[in-house]
Amino acid sequence: MGGENTCAEGSECPMQLPPLGPDVVEEFTRTIYGRTPDGGKLSELALQSREEGVLDGAADRFRHRATVACPLGNLEFDTLLHLPSGVNAAPVVVILNFNGNDQTLSPVSGWDASSFPYQKIAQAGYAVLTADYREIEPDDPNPPSPGVRGLFPEETWGAVAAWAWGLSRLLDIAATVDRIDLTKTVALGHSRLGKAALWAGVLDERITVTASNESGCCGAALFRHPGGEDIEAITRRFPHWFVPSFAQYAGREDELPVDQHQLLASIAPRRVYVCSAEDDAWADPEGERLAVEAARPAFGPDGIGYHIRPGGHALLEEDWLKVLAF
Ligand code: GCU
Repeated sequence: MGGENTCAEGSECPMQLPPLGPDVVEEFTRTIYGRTPDGGKLSELALQSREEGVLDGAADRFRHRATVACPLGNLEFDTLLHLPSGVNAAPVVVILNFNGNDQTLSPVSGWDASSFPYQKIAQAGYAVLTADYREIEPDDPNPPSPGVRGLFPEETWGAVAAWAWGLSRLLDIAATVDRIDLTKTVALGHSRLGKAALWAGVLDERITVTASNESGCCGAALFRHPGGEDIEAITRRFPHWFVPSFAQYAGREDELPVDQHQLLASIAPRRVYVCSAEDDAWADPEGERLAVEAARPAFGPDGIGYHIRPGGHALLEEDWLKVLAF
C-alpha cells in the first residue's frame, strides 16, 4: 500500500475518504469484522464419492467430508470439488454456497441466486471447491446450534469473518489435492459471501485473486458514498455478521476510521476483482466502482479489475467468466 491520494488521477471522487496506508487491517478487525483466532486444523478429509468424466467429460467430481480440529471440538462439513479433465495442475476457485453443495449443480433463484457453470469453468481449466456456508457458521443472530465461532474460546469475530475462515479451510483442503496448483487461487463470493471473500483476501496470503460479486455494504462499496444499504440497516438486520460495537456507527459513516477502498488496497499487491450489477441499487454499484478507483494507486497496472453488467443481484455465468478472464 501507499500513496496519499484518495482517488485515482482523472477519476471524480465526490466524497472525502481516509487515505490509503498505513496498514489499516487492525482497524478493520477492531471496528467491523472482529478477530479471527489462530488454529483450526484440517484433521481428516474422507472421500465420499468420485465420478470421472462428468459434464460431458469436462471434469471429475469428488465429494469429501472434512473435519477441522478446533480448540473446543471438531467442525465437520461436506465439500464438492470439480477438477478439469486432463489438467495436471489446475488453478482453483474456492467459493462458499448458500443452499448446499448439491444445489450448485441445479441453480436456484432468489436473493441468493448463484449459478455455478461448472462445465464452462472446467473448460477454462479451473477447479472449483465449494461448501455450504451454513455448515461453517449459521446465518442467524441466535443460531440453534453454534458453528465454528462456538469452537473457539473467548473470541470476538462476526459471521462474515467466520465464513472467510471457511474459505481458508477450503484452501487447506485444496492443498491436499494432487491436481491443483496452489500458486493460482481465486476466492470468489456473492453478496454476503462476497464480503467474506474480501476479508479472506485480506487475511490469507495464499489467495492470489480475490473476487467479490455485488458484495455491497461492508464488502466493496464505500460507506461514505450515499446509496444502497447503510450501517444502520445492515447492523439492524444482521447484527451477527460483525462485532457488536460496529452498530455504534449507524448514521455516523463519516466517523468510521476506515472505508472500503482501504480494504481493497489491503489485499495489494495480490490482485482483486470487483463485480457490480446495474440494477442492484442495494449493493451500491457506484460506491463499489468508486472504491475500486480509490484503491487503484495501491495496485500495479493490472492489479485491480472491475465490471458492471446489466441486470440485478445474482452471480451469473457472465460474472464467473469475467473473473476467470481476469
Ligand atoms: C441482504 C443484505 C446484504 C447482503 C445480501 C445478500 O440484502 O442487506 O448486505 O449482501 O443480503 O447476501 O444477498
